[in-house]
Amino acid sequence: MNEQRSTTDLLITNVRPYGEGEPVDVVVRDGVITEIGAGLTAPEGAESIDAEGAILLPGFVDLHTHLREPGGEESETIETGSAAAALGGFTALFAMPNTDPVADTAVVVEHVRRRGDEVGLVDVHPVGAVTVGLGGTKMAELGTMARSRARVRMFSDDGRCVNDPLIMRRALEYASSLDAVIAQHAEDHRLTEGAQAHEGVVASRLGLAGWPATAEETIVARDCALAREAGAALHICHVSSVHTLEVIRAAKAAGVRVTAEVTPHHLLLTDAALTSYDPVNKVNPPLRTGVDTAAMRAALAEGVIDVVATDHAPHASQYKDTEWAAAKPGMLGLQTALSVLVLACVESGQLDWRGVARVLSERPAEIGGLPDHGRPIAVGEPANLTIVDPEGAWTVRGANLVSKASNTPYEGMRLPATVVATVLRGTVTARDGKVAS
Ligand code: DOR
Ligand code: ZN
Repeated sequence: MNEQRSTTDLLITNVRPYGEGEPVDVVVRDGVITEIGAGLTAPEGAESIDAEGAILLPGFVDLHTHLREPGGEESETIETGSAAAALGGFTALFAMPNTDPVADTAVVVEHVRRRGDEVGLVDVHPVGAVTVGLGGTKMAELGTMARSRARVRMFSDDGRCVNDPLIMRRALEYASSLDAVIAQHAEDHRLTEGAQAHEGVVASRLGLAGWPATAEETIVARDCALAREAGAALHICHVSSVHTLEVIRAAKAAGVRVTAEVTPHHLLLTDAALTSYDPVNKVNPPLRTGVDTAAMRAALAEGVIDVVATDHAPHASQYKDTEWAAAKPGMLGLQTALSVLVLACVESGQLDWRGVARVLSERPAEIGGLPDHGRPIAVGEPANLTIVDPEGAWTVRGANLVSKASNTPYEGMRLPATVVATVLRGTVTARDGKVAS
């Protein structure tokens, strides 16, 4: 991995691990943390970063990214998406398979993995499709993808739900034998045909066809039962409804191996944003109500929801600058994830910096099966790190984000906290808003 970038040693001074205690210095040699303490000196030839009292966290891990390559390069490439990830503080990500061709074969997942390694800004782990062509009717060759050089450990039809219960059951059983996880986009498509917005007061007033929350809740209930029976690991993508939380809570209490993610936008934004009819707010699952966002924040703090995952979904302007019904669903997420999480959950006192490390790094690394990410900040551990300035408020401008597309719902918003630098195995991949060259 990391074929292009050569590793240099690194000294980070004046930094506060997890935002706790007095600032310390951290020395990294050959990609590993070798010293933590006061007044440390740089190894010969080392790069150094004066963190000026900023916070040191384990590098972020995104379980849900759309990189669009192959086939959607007008919206994003593995290179531009990796740059956005590094600038957002991420050291690893999982690339969803709804590309063209779909990542449902060893050839495609190996291509994505290899290209990610060549770019070398973030560890790119391809997610394999559950069904051939995301068609929902024939299971893809999960074993071949798992055994390929891409070593796929997460499978999903994201963008589509694995709606057929028999296919879902078999996929869970098979994934379990491969030590892999099935990540379900929970949406009963029979209940959401033609849906354009959260089914509720706002959609009625705007005359938009509704996406009922029960379409999510019922699939999650079904899949928790199937996962229990198979003894398999099930991950629920982008939970959006308060009712789904009760299902997950009960399943976890019953010992089902279920984990769940929430997106930054489902923590912060509601369907009140839809009154502008600006398709930048169109996303699947849709923005819901203030009751739902409040419940998501509480569930994340409590651990019913395990992680924040971006669902970074770049769309070129031709897919977004259209009338509402014709626009594709999705929002940029990688470069704004930390700031939105801080705004939604840290400033409200629901999460501290340990909590941020848990939901953006430690738990996603565990769920994705990445032994070298989400590790404690300690001597002997791999130097996958993110430095965060909690005072560094910034104003979001889609045009300034490094993604090829600029479909951010936070345009013009002032958000708290900046990523000062990102470190992948000791190599600085982003610093002061610029990607390492
Ligand atoms: O809003 C979304 N965009 N939801 C999905 O499930 C898919 C994604 C995309 O690929 O654009
Ligand atoms: Zn999805």
